[in-house]
Amino acid sequence: MSQRRDDRNVSANNRTRILRVLAGIVALVAASLTTASTASAAASLPCDIYGAAGTPCVAAHSTTRALYGTYNGALYQVQRASDGAKTNIGLLAAGGYANAAAQDSFCAGTTCLITEIYDQSPRHNDLTIEGPGGAGGQDTGVPADALPVTAGGHQVYGASFSGRMGYRDNSTSGVAKNGQPEGMYMITSGTHVNGACCFDYGNAETNNQDTGNGHMDALNFGTECWFQPCHGAGPWVQADLENGLFQSSAGGSQNTANTGITAPFVTALLKNNGQNFFALKDGNAQSGGLRTTYSGPEPTRAGYSPMHQEGAIVLGTGGDNSNGSIGSFFEGVMTAGLPTDAADNAVQANVVSVGYGGPTGSTGTLNPGSEISVRATTACCTGDYIRHQNDNAVISPVSSTLDKNDATWIVRRGLASSSCVSFESRNYPGDFLRHFDFQVYRQPMDGSAAFRADATFCPVAGKNGQGSSFRSYNYSGKYLRHYNNTLYIADTSGAHTWDAAGSYNDDVSWVVAQPWAP
Ligand code: AHR
Repeated sequence: MSQRRDDRNVSANNRTRILRVLAGIVALVAASLTTASTASAAASLPCDIYGAAGTPCVAAHSTTRALYGTYNGALYQVQRASDGAKTNIGLLAAGGYANAAAQDSFCAGTTCLITEIYDQSPRHNDLTIEGPGGAGGQDTGVPADALPVTAGGHQVYGASFSGRMGYRDNSTSGVAKNGQPEGMYMITSGTHVNGACCFDYGNAETNNQDTGNGHMDALNFGTECWFQPCHGAGPWVQADLENGLFQSSAGGSQNTANTGITAPFVTALLKNNGQNFFALKDGNAQSGGLRTTYSGPEPTRAGYSPMHQEGAIVLGTGGDNSNGSIGSFFEGVMTAGLPTDAADNAVQANVVSVGYGGPTGSTGTLNPGSEISVRATTACCTGDYIRHQNDNAVISPVSSTLDKNDATWIVRRGLASSSCVSFESRNYPGDFLRHFDFQVYRQPMDGSAAFRADATFCPVAGKNGQGSSFRSYNYSGKYLRHYNNTLYIADTSGAHTWDAAGSYNDDVSWVVAQPWAP
């Protein structure tokens, strides 16, 4: 496909819209001219797979990559705080990955929100920021750079929801209604979840209100156990069918093996024939296949058999805009018709091939994208590394697989200054080292200026002559220090116990090493 999109200026919304429609027509023509062999071609992406299987995508949303091998349009729109200007973020190549550098350049020196997530399908079911609903007020968009991850070897951004954030399209085309069959999956994260209602992606009401049982058919991911029993601690892939998050026809789980899935990247899948059957699957989006956690009749409570879907699409909230939930979204599609298990498996294989979160190829340096572990240099502790433990940042020896994952960090462009760095957790995508009341923690990036500043550290030569020291961006007299095995930002003033002068230069000097968990 040769069409180009003007990524620098979307004030000409009509032109952008027309280009998107043209891109859709070209994609449709290409699809209709394509033989079944396309399905097995290297560039067969999730919507090519579902299309070839007879269940075409009617929605395809992603901030990270194309979901059709021929798609070359915009993925999402960002708006910057400094002057209110908007731009579209597209792809590095047709069928490829998001052009995150374009976002970095447009948003340099300010902050951006994602204001629209485009539908790559010919249906143009684009998601805009959700308005007020029965259970929640006006939402906001997600900070555009809160969830830097790697996909296909490129640095891209996922969408990180911190609560009171959501997207919606109440006027869709082709999405299942009133008992029609459909399927959907999303790639989310098992490390950024909560038990509030409702981190959803899928079919919802067209008026942001709870209009009754069976009026939704959406994926839900989180730790909210609506119907007992739920086994383990979650988070679980559940079906939000309205007035309930279902793990089975009984509501609660009938599957003691389904204790949830905590992988950093999770494939969540739901399909529903709209009449008498639905199924739930989960999987590690970085490796392996899918597991079916439920497959059977619709819920036995009144109103779900047949279903009464209304055909809106929601992302990040419940059907009535219940918006207390947090979550992560990288990509998701909805289909017309009930997908086959074979197509689901092929989609999972394609997702795994993306290598979400995988190595950038750069390790052991302070260049953005590099994966590192950080070793203490004080004589007591030269075998200890910075790790997170119970959300705190500490130093400890590393031996188990958990230790290794907790002690691995991805260097990111400084969240408050591109001449400094931030440290994203390897196994908690979207979580960063930040200080709060001078202690250092691992926390999800919430997009606020305070978080950005607290999570930004400026490397200088190590104060004891070894490695590097990391100056706090917003407390420029303080450096990242270990004291009694806990991390702080500290100086030598003595104002706090961790500001002791003894062994200061050693405690603030760190060797940036190869990652324990590349
Ligand atoms: O079904 C769970 C939630 O209940 C829905 O998402 C919401 O509309 C209602 O509050």
